[in-house]
Amino acid sequence: MSRDKTLFTCAECGGTTPKWLGQCPHCRAWNTLTEALAEPAAARNRYGQGTSHALNAAQPVTPLSAIEASDVARAASGIDELDRVLGGGIVEGGVVLMGGDPGIGKSTLLLQALDALQHAGLPTLYVTGEESGAQVALRSRRLGLEHSQVQVLAETQLEKILATVEAVQPAVAVIDSIQTIYSDQLASAPGSVAQVRECAAHLTRAAKSTGVAMVLVGHVTKEGALAGPRVLEHMVDTVLYFEGDTHSNFRLVRAIKNRFGAVNEIGVFAMTERGLRGVSNPSAIFLSQHSEPVPGSCVLVTLEGTRPLLVEIQALVDGGGPSPRRLSVGLERDRLAMLLAVLHRHAGVACADQDVFVNAVGGVRISEPAADLAVMLAITSSLRSRALPKGFIAFGEVGLAGEVRPAPRGQERLREAAKLGFTVAVIPKANAPRQPIEGLEIHAVERIEEAMSVVRGLG
Ligand code: TYD
Ligand code: MG
Repeated sequence: MSRDKTLFTCAECGGTTPKWLGQCPHCRAWNTLTEALAEPAAARNRYGQGTSHALNAAQPVTPLSAIEASDVARAASGIDELDRVLGGGIVEGGVVLMGGDPGIGKSTLLLQALDALQHAGLPTLYVTGEESGAQVALRSRRLGLEHSQVQVLAETQLEKILATVEAVQPAVAVIDSIQTIYSDQLASAPGSVAQVRECAAHLTRAAKSTGVAMVLVGHVTKEGALAGPRVLEHMVDTVLYFEGDTHSNFRLVRAIKNRFGAVNEIGVFAMTERGLRGVSNPSAIFLSQHSEPVPGSCVLVTLEGTRPLLVEIQALVDGGGPSPRRLSVGLERDRLAMLLAVLHRHAGVACADQDVFVNAVGGVRISEPAADLAVMLAITSSLRSRALPKGFIAFGEVGLAGEVRPAPRGQERLREAAKLGFTVAVIPKANAPRQPIEGLEIHAVERIEEAMSVVRGLG
């Protein structure tokens, strides 16, 4: 097959070369060249000039208010937790990127979703580039989908996939995974940035022109950013990431970007013998079961999308050495360093010569600053070897000046904690409820040192 001309473009200077080189011949930067299809020669008009804007007819414009707003057509997959993150269902012609570590459950969930859609009467297509048809069939048996009518195509060449999508005309197509697909227009290997970007762009265009909803599966590589699905985030309509550690049974699917719904909404699943099952009431799954309170543990009420979630924050402060370590799992490390400085400066709690480890239980990733107070209380509790009282929760952002700032939707967080049987809360003053919440003793504080003294009084 004849190949269109490709060019290698430097990410630093934008210069191009016709062949791959380790070093850019223009700016001398190393490893910056990526392959792309050469642009067709600029269209010439009859005056022999490139098309300039002066020669184009102006197009009519419309006031926003005069454009009819139409809602998008969605198909609910019937898997409630997935529909929740999608904003109600999969959108016609929409492109979803589903990212996550290898082995976390992407193929499992999508096969289940396709089967449910197929049952709902929508034609579906599962394109597997990683596994053979037999392997996919094996998984489907395990999931109890032996009678599934989902169409399967084992193929990795983009052009063949596009032709098949056009012929089969599914309502939803899953491409598992985008890293295994290659276009024969490019010389670089499947999985390279150039291939991933080019293939995703073609598939996106096909989705838009045919109305087929596409789900592109992308593995997050350890290096993350480069060949991983990150380069595609701006191209697609919706970006979903799988979270959770593969050793625990729980998996979170989080919407990072959604043109058709709210972001940061999460879906919670449990991995079972027969695939992923939605957990409809997940608020308490990220708590470990201590029969008695232990030092270094503080329960945080965090807000994930529209749902309050109780997550145990654990801290361990232990004799370090000349260069103590600060490690965090599920929480931002830079923020941890900042919180330690605030603790030292404003509450007189010094861990400068100690190792500090913090962990959000269950592999959940917490990015909201409202976790600050719980993290600081867990650290102090570990340092002093004194457990927080039984039934204790906290939330609130802590600023550099030591002030405790309010968290969004405080009432909902408090009500959820009370519902799950928690009895004592330390929260920002601005979140203090006007009416008491039954069963919950609330201490509203303005400053970190105040929070510390409240806790000491409770112990
Ligand atoms: P998979 O969907 O293949 O992951 P990904 O596509 O993200 O790489 O999931 C693989 C893991 O899920 C594997 O370790 C086995 C486990 N699993 C179950 O526990 N139960 C099941 O029913 C299935 C199908 C898989
Ligand atoms: Mg897979």
